[in-house]
Amino acid sequence: MRQAFHGWPRRAPTGRTAYVNGAYVPHARARVHIEDRGLQFSDAIYEVWGVSNGALLDEEEHFDRLERSLRELQMAMPMARGALKFVLRELVRRNGVDNGILYMQVTRGAVRRDHAIPKASPRPSLILTARRISAKIVEARRKAGVRVITRPDERWARRDIKSTSLLANILAKTAARDAGAFEAWLIEDGYVTEGSSTTAWIVDAEGRLVTRSLSNAVLPGVTRRVIMEAAAEARLPVVERRFTRAEALAAKEAFITAATLGATPVVEIDGKPVGAGKPGAVSRRVQELYAREAARKTAGKED
Ligand code: PDD
Repeated sequence: MRQAFHGWPRRAPTGRTAYVNGAYVPHARARVHIEDRGLQFSDAIYEVWGVSNGALLDEEEHFDRLERSLRELQMAMPMARGALKFVLRELVRRNGVDNGILYMQVTRGAVRRDHAIPKASPRPSLILTARRISAKIVEARRKAGVRVITRPDERWARRDIKSTSLLANILAKTAARDAGAFEAWLIEDGYVTEGSSTTAWIVDAEGRLVTRSLSNAVLPGVTRRVIMEAAAEARLPVVERRFTRAEALAAKEAFITAATLGATPVVEIDGKPVGAGKPGAVSRRVQELYAREAARKTAGKED
């Protein structure tokens, strides 16, 4: 097959458009420099927005986390939030994404390779892609629930930063896939931290939602935050504390959350059923609360 760019099949993403450093470009030819620090060192952060009915979900919350990640790494916003919002919407529109995801990566930029952060900041690189995800597939997964395995948490100590350094995450996710599961829950000091790309939750015997409190050990999930606010409003009790694999196995229900998933029930952990081994009423209620919140926030926002 002819290739427009080394390793990327010419015909694969027909008609898709990416945004790279100020320009909308055909996806197959989108590129950054070989000395980009994102490529050299994973000196980069990223964000993922869910897109529903053409509108970005939890738009401001993801921007808040983007700015925080950049600040923690002494990186500047590549452009102002207002201008970025315009580009995000335009990319969703150009790719005809009704339901799907928008991916953003900001790297420190291209500069001669040297480990220390350059004193004179290079211009950050900004990369954006958008793609469709079948709403039917996401919905079917939410209805059926997913299987999870557990793995040791081998990540670095600043998981609160949404960095593109994801080697430990991708190894864990691959182990899950190879075991016929959807996600790997990561274990540290006997407690679940989170999933390889999701926030982990259980429902305790009293019907309370339980998820780990925020610290350097986990990513502050945007979906987590929105669900916590919606749950508080609906008087559904939430407890922020850590929990073990054994507690998760004995829980009434379990579920995972992420921008691309909403709340998706976990029906099995390491081959053993959680609760009744099928999606439960509390997880369904959380799904409804999140969907209602999303509909309320995106009302009238789609192009
Ligand atoms: N992942 N924890 C980790 C380690 C994650 O990578 C993610 C998101 C989450 C959930 O965060 P949020 O609710 O803000 O999506 C928790 C994204 C979707 C990804 O890496 O593609």
